[in-house]
Amino acid sequence: MKVPRKFFEPLAIGAPAPLRDLPARLERMIHFVPPHNEKVRAKVGDLCSQVDVVLGNLEDAIPIESKEAAREGFIAMAREVEFGATGLWVRVNALNSPWLLDDLARIVAEVGSKLDVLMAPKIEGPWDIHFLDQYLALLEAKHSIAKPILIHAILETAQGVNNVAAIAAASPRMQGMSLGPADLAASRAMKTTRVGGGHPDYRVLADGTGPGRVSAQQDPWHYTIARMVDACAANGLKAFYGPFGDFSDPEACEAQFRNAFLLGCAGAWTLHPSQIAIAKRVFSPDPGEVAFARKILAAMPDGSGAVMIEGKMQDDATWKQAKVIVDLARQVAGIDRDYAAVYGF
Ligand code: GLV
Ligand code: MG
Repeated sequence: MKVPRKFFEPLAIGAPAPLRDLPARLERMIHFVPPHNEKVRAKVGDLCSQVDVVLGNLEDAIPIESKEAAREGFIAMAREVEFGATGLWVRVNALNSPWLLDDLARIVAEVGSKLDVLMAPKIEGPWDIHFLDQYLALLEAKHSIAKPILIHAILETAQGVNNVAAIAAASPRMQGMSLGPADLAASRAMKTTRVGGGHPDYRVLADGTGPGRVSAQQDPWHYTIARMVDACAANGLKAFYGPFGDFSDPEACEAQFRNAFLLGCAGAWTLHPSQIAIAKRVFSPDPGEVAFARKILAAMPDGSGAVMIEGKMQDDATWKQAKVIVDLARQVAGIDRDYAAVYGF
């Protein structure tokens, strides 16, 4: 194991020093764009005012014959667009694919200074992060990149879930993780063709017998999201829900996003423009919760002791819960006037 003193040293001579803390950025939705599609690319400038993160997707869903066009399209898009406060991410191809070496080499060389986060698919263990970490450091040094490119791992294999804590702790370059329910379902031999969400056959039956017996669908992703959130939070990283594939069911998408938000996730992927508003609504804290949380903070200015508010007991721990919500609300209000007004900041 690497000694603690070495953990924050650059991995290549001339590479930037790793960050000690993540940049404080709002990342409620990571919006996927296929960069080989010129029409979509032309709209990315406008998209920046609507989303927190624009991600150029080079991996799954990009046809093999378009892999190089997607890479070049991403480079063109990164060069041409002024992203402002909107994050610029790329999802590169898998570590065992014939495209990864050129994805890394071309993108860091051409637009490494503009790239915030590199999303890495099918991460199985800390060894995958160590490889990317070292290779990125060498490329950053070669191209005089001043700000380290962060790594975001997709948790989408059974082995990755087994190693989730070690992945989160693998490098100071780690920004966070997303649950990838489609690949993970396949890797685990789950019997579903859905991309995220519930399944009508995954349910619990109430006691009793006969036709009137009550049953309710359960959430097949609860366990994985909770493990991912713990691994990320313990290492100061952010956890995200990944894709929701049924664009015709916005209610189910909202329910899936909301479960992730309540369990600690910071955002979700948006694959379709209709999902942007859903993610914004879900991952910006509820105004009623914010108002109540502000009452708690006001009633306990130094965060200690115990008070009753509206019949509910408050103490040091609920003060911290309230602070999570109010800090997030302030961050949202900082970039969104409408929310600032609703929250009353
Ligand atoms: C995302 O990449 C997934 O496999 O769900
Ligand atoms: Mg996947």
